[in-house]
Amino acid sequence: MILRAQFPSLFLHSSRFNVVLACMLAMAPMAARRCVAQANASPYAFHNTLMPQPSSLEAGSGHFMLTADFAAATDKSHDERLDEAIERGMKRLAFETGLQFSTQPTAGAAAQFLISVDGPGEAVQSVDENESYSLTVTEQGVHLSAATDVGVMRGLATLEQLVQNDGERYFLPAVSIQDTPRFRWRGLMLDCSRHFEPISVIKRTLDGMEAVKLNVFHWHLTDDQGFRIQSKVFPLLTQLGSNGQFYTQEQAKEIVAYARARGIRVVPEFDMPGHTSSWMVGYPELASAAGPFHIQTGFGVFDPVMDPTRESTYRFLDKFVGEMAAIFPDQYMHIGGDENNGVEWKQNAQIQAFMRAHDMTTTAELQAYFNQKLEKILEKHGKRMIGWDEVLTPNLPASVTIQSWRGYEALAQAARQGHDGILSSGYYLDHMMPASTYYQVDPIPAGSTLDATERGRILGGEACMWGEYVDAEVVDSRIWPRAAAIAERLWSPQSVDNVDDMYRRLRVESLRLEALGMTQISQEDASLRTLAGRQEIAPLQVLAATLEPVDFGVRGAYSEAHHVTTQSPLDHVIDALRPDPPFRHRFSMLVEAYLKSPRGRSPQEAKLRALFEQWIAVEPRVEELMAHSPLLAEANPRPAQLAELGGIGMEALTYLSTGQAAPAGWRASQLAAIDAAEAPVALTRFDVLDPLRSMVNAVEESPGAPPVQ
Ligand code: ACM
Repeated sequence: MILRAQFPSLFLHSSRFNVVLACMLAMAPMAARRCVAQANASPYAFHNTLMPQPSSLEAGSGHFMLTADFAAATDKSHDERLDEAIERGMKRLAFETGLQFSTQPTAGAAAQFLISVDGPGEAVQSVDENESYSLTVTEQGVHLSAATDVGVMRGLATLEQLVQNDGERYFLPAVSIQDTPRFRWRGLMLDCSRHFEPISVIKRTLDGMEAVKLNVFHWHLTDDQGFRIQSKVFPLLTQLGSNGQFYTQEQAKEIVAYARARGIRVVPEFDMPGHTSSWMVGYPELASAAGPFHIQTGFGVFDPVMDPTRESTYRFLDKFVGEMAAIFPDQYMHIGGDENNGVEWKQNAQIQAFMRAHDMTTTAELQAYFNQKLEKILEKHGKRMIGWDEVLTPNLPASVTIQSWRGYEALAQAARQGHDGILSSGYYLDHMMPASTYYQVDPIPAGSTLDATERGRILGGEACMWGEYVDAEVVDSRIWPRAAAIAERLWSPQSVDNVDDMYRRLRVESLRLEALGMTQISQEDASLRTLAGRQEIAPLQVLAATLEPVDFGVRGAYSEAHHVTTQSPLDHVIDALRPDPPFRHRFSMLVEAYLKSPRGRSPQEAKLRALFEQWIAVEPRVEELMAHSPLLAEANPRPAQLAELGGIGMEALTYLSTGQAAPAGWRASQLAAIDAAEAPVALTRFDVLDPLRSMVNAVEESPGAPPVQ
């Protein structure tokens, strides 16, 4: 299996909840005070749910009421792309508010929503595209101004997030926003090789990206498990290397256009010289071993690797890159370069002779030779090369950009060597970490020793969605809403770092993303219904809220032991569950608030008691569902464990609320039961154990010997 980078412990620190500051920590101190004051004052107070937070925001007084008269006009430059973006934004606003206003912008006319743009922006959006905008809402109307169409798109995304209501009508709070991204490269990588994702999934992913201001769609199109882009020059690449699931060139162009319309660049990745089994099924002459070759169905690192010693390999790649360069206009082309194990190079006598003749002692040197020749081919076709951090060798041309997946230090090293770089280490969504973990990973962390020039080379970062365990049904819940937390890290000022406030806004953003077509919330229920074979799944929802998928390492080990492949159905309990379900953070905040003053009756105590009662009550009902669903029953004994955890919670509540001491040994036995629930069951893990431990640990025990059990 692929052992992808673990998170450097440097990034793992906890954050404390602060109710007063949660509202506006992201803002300047003045604005924060104003927000808190207004929050108590008026139904029209600004309620900040923006995600990502803008670089500067001043909440004004008053509001702008949205009515059927709402209309948009452009008073400076406008073109088809801008008009379409405005119309899309206006349609979403109409949908959000139920108002039937005109959604098409007019040119030059006065309107309640005035959009002033200097020009369209770059013909091919580059990493330097100007995405800044300013947005002002007053009682009189809305003014959005930007240098480019893309800046307007970013401002429209913010405007949609500003909509509030007073219980009867929708309005925009008075605000003045000046916004500019912290990083220029804010990407999402989607692996469509291990599992193919239909065009509809790609499009809704791009819609979600636009909503949270991500600007690079890194499309991982080729790998051992499938070659997913049609080549007309080399038709066997897909005919024999794709299981019939691939994107035609027309579809790829459609995606490029769809992304451009949303201010998103498309960077294709053709992973080589390793991860290339699918190329060799149709074109074994590329290979370093005799074959025969087949599309891999398992996961991990495989031996097939291109032969870098033959000129015919480069003639092939020259034609292929030329063909792809015409489909993907972005300045960058990703050549992968990761995880070449060098096995076939070591076993091939001709390749070994080549290495000796060129004074190469390691396969890494041979790969560096390959990279240099490939870089010239890319340059010939007008492309800048980007590769995973394995491509970083001392003689790599400085123009090559490094995408770091193995650790932050590789990125820093690349910057010191003069390379641009983007960070993905710490942003692997398939690792199933909570949003808070990703949120605390920074492309330029506090304490970075890079100088100003080197820091300038850190272009940004990319969330990575590897495709071992994602199909069209489950992929949304693996990307969203956690990618929105990464989007904020990459767009917003570094000082925007309050985890609790991020979760408060992420819950709202997740609903907005669903309204845009993502399915991360609804799919869980749909999958649970399918698993249960019942429409009524309330008890199952109670259990599901407390569970999440195990991390990538645990699932990978299981997959290897049980021969899980690309053909294995993703229809198990783990596939239904969402990583970092909203309940996880809510429960932890509730326990934290309760433990601040546990004595007596409090709203927190009542809520916790109700929850624990529910955990106990659902056990027989979930077990009854399991009795009729072998797939669901894989998660046994989770219902009994949840009931036991509920019992522990109830006892802790009783001791804490009354101030009574528990018998000696009580804590140890409860903690042992909680520890026992830690073990994965059907690849699920409980997301409530740490707060429960805090409750148990807060209980006083009477001195004396533990009672005999
Ligand atoms: C990678 O995770 N092998 C880039």
